[in-house]
Amino acid sequence: YDILAETLFSGEIAGEPGSFANEIDRLFETMGRVDPLDLLRAPDWLPRLTRIRGRKTMAYFRKIVTDTVKMREAKFKRDPDAVPQDFLTLLLKAEGPEGLTRAEVEDNIITFIGAGHETTARSLGWTLYCLAESPWERNRVEQEIDQVLAREPDPTKWLDAMPFTRAAFDEALRLYPPAPSINREPIEPEMWKDLYIPKHAAVLVMPWVVHRHRKLWDRPDAFLPERFHPGNREKIDRFQYLPFGAGPRVCIGASFAMQEAIIALAIMLSRFRFDTTAETKPWPVQKLTTQPQGGLPMQVTPRQVR
Ligand code: HEM
Repeated sequence: YDILAETLFSGEIAGEPGSFANEIDRLFETMGRVDPLDLLRAPDWLPRLTRIRGRKTMAYFRKIVTDTVKMREAKFKRDPDAVPQDFLTLLLKAEGPEGLTRAEVEDNIITFIGAGHETTARSLGWTLYCLAESPWERNRVEQEIDQVLAREPDPTKWLDAMPFTRAAFDEALRLYPPAPSINREPIEPEMWKDLYIPKHAAVLVMPWVVHRHRKLWDRPDAFLPERFHPGNREKIDRFQYLPFGAGPRVCIGASFAMQEAIIALAIMLSRFRFDTTAETKPWPVQKLTTQPQGGLPMQVTPRQVR
């Protein structure tokens, strides 16, 4: 969240410190809930407790976003040269009669935070877990990180210099895709091959299912980063591996996330070793993102860097 807040608003957020991050967590808690009445296909006019709670949280969250945009706008009016050239400034510059409306500026901010913060955090947690469960792979990754950090001080070069670390991250995204389902609702009826899809049908493409399909993957449930080593990754079909989706709405933050995740892993794994404990039995649940129910307790020990 700190990385995203720094990139999007250079940390200039309205309200109490920390309140924005807390509100996002609450938003995800409420948005991620499936209401039992929806599962029972109850009529729409029956009030859903989850929706009422969700609306309150959303309204509060939106207020922080509105104030943040206003704060930046005031600063921009005072001295356009004094504002940071970040995502928020660029969005505000795109505002206007020909461009974005204020509501669209705010929607973009909410979408970027919603889509970019939880997903990356979850993917890092699952990668640390997979590596802890495969000490041999973890050794290989730690060695690669130690070697690269010893010779390359520029973090923006690490992604290309660390094929094993990247492969471990890609493989963790396969087993635990942070966005386990991609949803669409057709606005018109569609034919796909011989399948008729009625208007407003719920269409779900599930990376979780595709990524673990026995017809597509050899030993689908095993953590085998070599699938993504150079020479192997090219053999994976484009639509067989969808952690960032595909098509016109593919994740716009994918290369940002990749860069960010490898830097974060390199820093963490160069300094600490992450081990699972007797209590680490993560049960993956889908609450918008793929989350370990009850958290992911791990033992963290400082490493002696060679
Ligand atoms: C490991 C991390 C991430 C994963 C697994 C992920 C996954 C995805 C997926 C699957 C989609 C497509 C959703 C769909 O088709 O309905 C998506 C869209 C999106 N992502 Fe990411 N994402 C990640 C990180 C990020 C980051 C860091 C940002 C922002 C900096 C971001 C911003 C977005 C936005 C704005 C969209 C909507 C794009 C559009 O509709 O045109 N994501 N993401």
